[in-house]
Amino acid sequence: MEGMEYLYELFGSMPRGGPGNKRSTRRAFELIPALPGDPFILDIGCGHGVQTLELAHMSGGRVIALDNHHPFLDILMEKAREEGLDDRIEPVCMSMLEMDFEEGTFDLIWSEGALYNMGFPEGLRKGRTLLKEDGYMAVSELTILSKDAPDPVMEYCKREYPPIRDVQGNLEMIRAEGFHLVGHFTLDSSAWLECFYEPMEKELERLEGKYRGNETALGFFEEMRNEIYMYRKYGQFYGYEFFVMQKRGR
Ligand SMILES: C[S@@+](CC[C@H](N)C(=O)[O-])C[C@H]1O[C@@H](n2cnc3c(N)ncnc32)[C@H](O)[C@@H]1O
Repeated sequence: MEGMEYLYELFGSMPRGGPGNKRSTRRAFELIPALPGDPFILDIGCGHGVQTLELAHMSGGRVIALDNHHPFLDILMEKAREEGLDDRIEPVCMSMLEMDFEEGTFDLIWSEGALYNMGFPEGLRKGRTLLKEDGYMAVSELTILSKDAPDPVMEYCKREYPPIRDVQGNLEMIRAEGFHLVGHFTLDSSAWLECFYEPMEKELERLEGKYRGNETALGFFEEMRNEIYMYRKYGQFYGYEFFVMQKRGR
């Protein structure tokens, strides 16, 4: 896809690949009432793996870190070595659309800002088959947060992510796909601004200089700036909702 190389260059030099922060990873993890002492975890679309490292620290278990972009996994494993976690994190470069783990393998499946790549319901369905009985799944998903979202926001959200739902719609999906809801919360604005868009703005400035005259690159960066503008203006109407759920028997 045109522009992908600029996207990878932009994200490669950022601290993480999407809105989020350690606080929200911890908060979601702490909603889980019980896990085995040495849980087996799958982190889908792990990117640079800020949350993967946090999961390995908090759980004491083993984590498969899955992403289809190898350089992100390299960044993750360098940090894992620095933090002495490389023996408990296994990088797997694979598309989430082609995951071929055995059914009933994992105690916990995690995905921050990435499951949409296979679709929220499709991702839940696949996750459910890969979970052990009573296993847990935690997913952050772009969600409409307010019924009062003005038309430009709804148009923007529907254009950028056509299947976007409100919180209620996602909760219904979770039930329909065979899970009990454990809890959910909205990521705070610092997860978007301080941890994601502010570092992005710095990188955009650098890359816009580097690619001066390259219309494809500059067009792509302008789209990213528009995304930031929209969030700053309308971020109270949409955001990431973190859903934590447990597989229930059919
Ligand atoms: C928005 S980023 C989120 C990264 C990370 N979870 C975080 O919160 O920082 C989405 C990630 O999904 C990965 N991704 C996109 N499509 C994928 C696919 N089909 N299979 C596996 N990973 C994919 C991207 O490479 C990227 O790292």
